[in-house]
This record gives sequence, structure tokens and C-alpha cells, in this order.
Amino acid sequence: MLLKIAVLPGDGVGPEVTDEAIRVLENVARIFGHELSLQKKDVGGAALVSSNDPLPSDTLQACLSSGAVLLGAVGGPAFDNFPSSLRPERGLLRLRQELGVFANLRPAICFSSLEDSSPLRPEVVSGTNVLIVRELLGGLYFGQPRSIHGQAGKRSAVDTMTYGEPEIERIAHVAFGLARSRRRKVTSVDKANVLDCSRLWRDVVTRVSREYPDVDLSHMYVDSAAMALVSRPGDFDVILTENMFGDILSDQAGAVVGSLGMLGSASIGGSVGLYEPVHGSAPDIAGKGIANPLGAILSTAMLLRHSFNLEAEAASIESAVDKVLAAGHRTRDLVKSGQASLSTQEMGRKIADAVEQHAEVKS
Ligand code: IPM
Ligand code: MG
Repeated sequence: MLLKIAVLPGDGVGPEVTDEAIRVLENVARIFGHELSLQKKDVGGAALVSSNDPLPSDTLQACLSSGAVLLGAVGGPAFDNFPSSLRPERGLLRLRQELGVFANLRPAICFSSLEDSSPLRPEVVSGTNVLIVRELLGGLYFGQPRSIHGQAGKRSAVDTMTYGEPEIERIAHVAFGLARSRRRKVTSVDKANVLDCSRLWRDVVTRVSREYPDVDLSHMYVDSAAMALVSRPGDFDVILTENMFGDILSDQAGAVVGSLGMLGSASIGGSVGLYEPVHGSAPDIAGKGIANPLGAILSTAMLLRHSFNLEAEAASIESAVDKVLAAGHRTRDLVKSGQASLSTQEMGRKIADAVEQHAEVKS
């Protein structure tokens, strides 16, 4: 099979972790007999520097004509004072919108060998396997009007949270559908005691749930969900939520399972799927070779599964990650300070080798 993929390394640690994801992808392609066609393009701050646009049309065209997009991270302190239309993040948001990827899947799994890496007690975090289904194209991120206006000293700002029924319906169907291949439990997270958007959300999710009588639905306020996620994370199966709440809860879920550096994500539902680690550009550690590449590597597993329907290939990456962690290999984010750890590249090589060994055992 020809795997045509647009690669957007972006900013900060993005390029380092993306390189390792590609190293693994190249091994998988060779072992399973696929042809890789990679097109590297700028996005975010890197694109602002090269062409004064966080999503140049040449990058967007490459994405639209590929089978999938693999992205590293965007953003950095150099761009903090740029106007909002010229921020690196704007490039990513526009890309999500142009691709039409409204469903963001963020699995947070506690690998049993990582129970000690969590800030929570092992017995609390043990067995955690949550899938956050985050609505990605609505809410505060895209609502109009938005602006900062008025005279210095008397300025006001407005952001708009807005949701329509069809938007809620389509993401609810994704969550219920995915729950069927898991533990059949959906927790819909909102703030229906305060927000009208949330009241509509709850109403529509409840209506959609009637088409899935085999899936158990419960509702939770976001503050209460944040607490439950750290006190009993193992209770959650699928968390269905709107854009901003999903952004916040997914970073929290990352810490719960050991490190945000572990989380990969898939953004689907549009013309082309977009895959990126959940962590950001982490400017404080960029270029030091210490970032955890597993989030990016696990994103490529999701890419193979969701965009190319290559389940065995995806599983070979996930089981390689499991094996390498079980053998005790860790990047710096997963060890206590002072303990030995692998560099970004060393971890990437370990996973690439483990994929190969797995294939040799099978053949
Ligand atoms: C994420 C990130 C992005 C978001 C930023 C970089 C725009 O935090 O993917 O979680 O808020 O969606
Ligand atoms: Mg985020």
C-alpha cells in the first residue's frame, strides 16, 4: 500500500519527536511491505518565519492531497506578542478547520510498567484506560465575535462559546460508536449548571444515546470530572466533551498516566486525518534531545489505524512501546530526578528495534 503522508514538524520539540515517529514508521512500512511517501512542510512558528503565515497554502495543499497528516507541535515564546491572526496556534486551528476534523480522540492509558511514574499512588492509577473524545471545531475556539477592543486602560475582551445541535450530534455519535468497542460507558462532561451551551449539549447527547441502548451514559460537571479524574481515573471509559474542556482534561489525563509526553491523538471525521502528540512545543526543553517521543510515535499508530485501516501495523507499534517500557527504558519525563534516562533518539531507536524484533518472531 502507498502511504502518502504530509509531515509538519512545527516548533519546539516538534521536529525532534517527529523524527523519531518517522524512524518507527519507516521500519513498520519496510516490515509490512508498504511504500512511504512523506512530504515535509512548515506550520506554526516555523511557517511564520519562512513565509509569514502560520499555515501557508503550500502546506495546506500538501495536507489536502495526502492520506494523512502527522504534526509535531506549534508555538513558542518568540511569537507571544504576535496578533492573534498571526500566532502559530492559529495555523493549527485553521488546519483542523480546513481538514474538517471535528473528532479528536485522545487515549490516556496507564502502561502497567509506568504506574510508578504517575504522581498518583499506583493503586489509584492502575488500570486507567480513558478515551477522551473532544469536539474540535466548535465552542470558544472558533465562536464569533471575538476581540480585544477599547482604549488602553479601559479595554474589554470577548470570546464566544457557541454550539449547534448538528455539531453536538456528530461528536456524540463518534463517542457512542467508539464506546461499543470498549467498556460501553460514556461520561459526557459539561457545565450545565451554568452554561446554556452545556444545557443544549446535555440534551442532545441524551437524545443521541437512545440509539445506543447498550452503552451506559452518565453526565458530569467539568469541575467534578476534574476531581474524579485524579481520584478514581479507572472509573472512566469514554469521556465525551466540548473543545475547551477536552483541551484541559486531556493534559490532566496525561499527567495521571505518568507523563503528558505519552499521549498521542487522532483528529478525524473530515477529508484527511490529522495526528499529533497531545503535548505542546515545550520550548524549555526544545533542542536538548530529552523530549519523550512516545506521544508522537503512538500518534503514528493511530494514523495507521484510522487513516489507512492498518490494524496489525498499528498494534505492532503499540506493543513495541509496551515492551520497551516494560524492559525499564524511560525518557527523562518518566524518571525521578537524578535517575538515568534515554534521549529522544535512543527511545525512538528502541521502539524501532522492538517493532523489528516483533516482526521477526512472527515470521
Ligand atoms: C492541544 C493544544 C492546542 C489546543 C493549541 C496548541 C492550539 O493545546 O492540541 O491540546 O488548544 O487545541
Ligand atoms: Mg492542549
